[in-house]
Order: sequence, then structure tokens, then C-alpha cells
Amino acid sequence: MPSPLLRTRYWLGNLRDNTLARLGRLYALTVAKAAPEGSLVHLARYYQTDKQDKHFYAEHYQQHFQKFRERKFNLLEIGVGGHEKPDVGGHSLRMWKAFFPHAQIYGLDIFDKSALDEPRIKTLKGSQADEQFLKSIVDQYGPFDIIIDDGSHYCQHVLESFRVLFPLLSDGGIYAIEDLQTSYWENLTGENWGGSHDLNAPFTSMNFLKSLVDGLNFEEYVDDHYQPTYYDRNIVSIHFYHNLAFLYKGKNNEGSNFLGNRFWKDERPDPRSK
Ligand SMILES: C[S@@+](CC[C@H](N)C(=O)[O-])C[C@H]1O[C@@H](n2cnc3c(N)ncnc32)[C@H](O)[C@@H]1O
Repeated sequence: MPSPLLRTRYWLGNLRDNTLARLGRLYALTVAKAAPEGSLVHLARYYQTDKQDKHFYAEHYQQHFQKFRERKFNLLEIGVGGHEKPDVGGHSLRMWKAFFPHAQIYGLDIFDKSALDEPRIKTLKGSQADEQFLKSIVDQYGPFDIIIDDGSHYCQHVLESFRVLFPLLSDGGIYAIEDLQTSYWENLTGENWGGSHDLNAPFTSMNFLKSLVDGLNFEEYVDDHYQPTYYDRNIVSIHFYHNLAFLYKGKNNEGSNFLGNRFWKDERPDPRSK
């Protein structure tokens, strides 16, 4: 059970962040002049997302997404913002639209956010934990080259979305997951985030992602009978930052320069697949 002091710090922190976010445009034009115009830090402030001055994600996004900037592609973000208020949210969708001038931006939310649709921004209503819904949007609007999970942040939802969507992400695509701090929270905010104080609990988002890291080197395993997983074969790099991770999709088949190229069999099914 978190101490009352910890809870108070959490709520005060939220109040400060929300106030800063509301002042975003003013902040962008005055205090935050240092961020070059058109940079993602600048755009995050201008469009009042919490992706910069609350979380400091924008610089990481800029680094990882820069190569897509002039491309024509589809981006999907889970979590539009504003929760049940139909005309509130869409801040990050507008930021992505400005950053990627040729991309089609899709935002998925459990609530109807269609009031926020505009040219190159389309919202889709459904749960990030609903496999059929996720598959249907990829069928209809995909393939996606970038997927960002900024939805419920419940570990179970994060992992379910990843299980369904990562295999459907384009080769060469990037899957980003925000707010991984919930991996360490059981009920800090009165909600059960599906996290744990146990740093080895297998069901948290962070521990699942950590379990993928060895797979980058699966071709170096000495066991000839090892059956690679889908993730072993299709993740080429993983980048962790404070509360944020990027997973790059591609063929992880360089072969071992010592042991050769031995793993030609089909991969083992994802143990979490239904
Ligand atoms: C943190 S806000 C998104 C903020 C937005 N991405 C931004 O940066 O401006 C999270 C959103 O996720 C939505 N959400 C919560 N549970 C969800 C679920 N199971 N599936 C899809 N969206 C969900 C909420 O309604 C809320 O609008």
C-alpha cells in the first residue's frame, strides 16, 4: 500500500503537469523558445500534448521517427486523450500531423472521438484489448509503419495490443510504448495498473519487454534445438528510456559469425497467443 505521502506527491505532480500542459502554447512561444521551430519538442508544446514537459518523450521520438518524416505512411496511436469528453483530446494526433506532412494519422480510443477528425486525422472507437477490433482496423486502414501505445497503460492491455499489433506492423516499422512506470504500480493511484513491486513479476509490461532482449542474440545460443519465437526473428532492436520503449521490426537473421545460420525451422508460437 503506498504511503499517504507518496499518494500526495503523485496528485500534486499531476496538478502541476496539467497546469503546465494547459499553458503549453504560451510556454512554447515564451519560455520554451530554445526548441527549434518544427522540432518535435516545439510541436509537443505547441499542440499541448504532455509528451514533452510532463514526460520528456519528444526528443526520443524525434530521434527514432526522423527517418519517416518525409514519407507517406500510416501512423496509429492508441489513446486519443480527453477520456469520455468527446471533443477533448487529439493533441498528439495534431502534433504527429504537423511533424509528418505526408502521413495519415489514426487515433484509437475506447470513447468516440470522431468530433476531432480532420483532414489526415481519423479516430477509431474501440478497445486496445479487443483483438478482433484491432485486426479489423489493420485490415481497413493499415498497414501501419508506426504504432504508439499511449492508451490505458494497464499492463494487460499493453501486452494484448502488442501481441496482436506487432505482427501486423510493417517490416521496418517501429512500435513505441509509453508510460511503462505502471509496471511498478499495483494501485498507487487507486487503480490497479497490473504492475508489481516484484521486479521479476512475469505479467508486467516492462518484464515482458525485458524478456525480448535476449532474443536479439538468439542466433548465438548454443542449443541447436532451440526454436526461435516470432519476436526472436522479427525484432532487430529495442530501446529503453525513462518510461518509454521503442521496438524496431525487421528480419533478425544476420547469422552468427561463429556458429553460422542454423535456425531455419518455423518459429515457436507465442506462448501467450490464444
Ligand atoms: C493518456 S490519454 C492519450 C493522450 C494522447 N495520446 C496525447 O498524447 O495527447 C489516454 C487515452 O486512452 C484512452 N483509453 C483508455 N482505455 C483504453 C482502451 N482500453 N482502449 C483504447 N483507449 C483507451 C482514454 O480514453 C484516453 O483518452
